[in-house]
Amino acid sequence: MAPQLLWIGLGNMGRGMVKNLVEKGNLEKPLIIYNRTRKRSEELAAKLPEGKTEIIDSLEDGIKKADIIFTIVSNDAVVQSVYQDLLKGDVAGKLFVDCSTIHPDTTNKVAKLVTDKAAQFVASPVFGAPPAAEAGMLVFVPAGAKSSIEKIRPYFKGVMGKAEIPFEDKPQSDALKLKLIGNSFILNTVTMLGEGLTLAEKTGVGVEPLQQLVDILIGGVYSIYADRMIKGTYWKMEEPLFSADNARKDGGHAMKLAESVGVDLKTVAVADDYLKSVAEYAGGDKGDIAGIYGSARLKAGLKYENDA
Ligand SMILES: NC(=O)c1ccc[n+]([C@@H]2O[C@H](COP(=O)([O-])OP(=O)(O)OC[C@H]3O[C@@H](n4cnc5c(N)ncnc54)[C@H](OP(=O)(O)O)[C@@H]3O)[C@@H](O)[C@H]2O)c1
Repeated sequence: MAPQLLWIGLGNMGRGMVKNLVEKGNLEKPLIIYNRTRKRSEELAAKLPEGKTEIIDSLEDGIKKADIIFTIVSNDAVVQSVYQDLLKGDVAGKLFVDCSTIHPDTTNKVAKLVTDKAAQFVASPVFGAPPAAEAGMLVFVPAGAKSSIEKIRPYFKGVMGKAEIPFEDKPQSDALKLKLIGNSFILNTVTMLGEGLTLAEKTGVGVEPLQQLVDILIGGVYSIYADRMIKGTYWKMEEPLFSADNARKDGGHAMKLAESVGVDLKTVAVADDYLKSVAEYAGGDKGDIAGIYGSARLKAGLKYENDA
């Protein structure tokens, strides 16, 4: 019999992931969805085919019916509080999958709480921004028991994702370590672009030739972020795609992880300095990571907002 799935967390990432799971996941039963703010569940359910989702108001109700529980919420404190609620009753035999980006030590703590209750736990952080979640193009990094990963693999490639980097029968924290190292690349990319575009403008070279160079020479994530900056999306968006708060959380975890093994992540400290100024200017939950461009502009005596 097909498992009953429960999804917790309908933020920027969760909404796109659920859309793809419902549309392409071959679910036999409606996907049970829960979000702290109910309105988000209602808005999402209204956009999806009728009868494909079931909104719940209490985690206790949802957990009783579910076999596999996916979570993707903001940060370590929220993950821990959600799991405290989830693990109150009898959860033996159920499989929990956390896709949030948190510190590897927190993941290990959550894994222990889950396995102490005779349930299974896979950490599966994801690479890709909300547009990639919406397009079903995420990269999943599952870590935990191979037998547990095999149960959720059908929902990854071709459904919510385009690829998988598995850590089978490895500690769940390995996935989070890779995620934090990977996100340090993103933080550096955005910082380089923010500074480079500001320099291009101030030297009179102009941002368009630099964008052309980035597209021809590097492409990929660089091009996506250059576009988000040059078009002014970083200050025009009502909701951030990757909030300054979440980016600072990831950078802080990456620096702590590096420090714990005697590595100095100097470049991430630079990104964090810019992000602090994004949070001060636009709000930590409203400012976007690409606002690093605005922050670099401010430092150079320009307006935060570009003329796009
Ligand atoms: N955005 C990205 O580019 C990206 C990419 C990869 C991974 N991630 C990671 O994925 C996770 C989610 O990111 P996101 O961009 O989707 O974040 P988001 O848009 O800020 O959504 C956060 C989610 O957490 C819930 N939440 C926050 N505080 C809560 C609380 N105290 N109790 C219960 N639920 C709470 C929110 O519920 P409400 O709707 O009620 O606020 C929402 O569902 C984060 O760990 C992030 O680092 C993000």
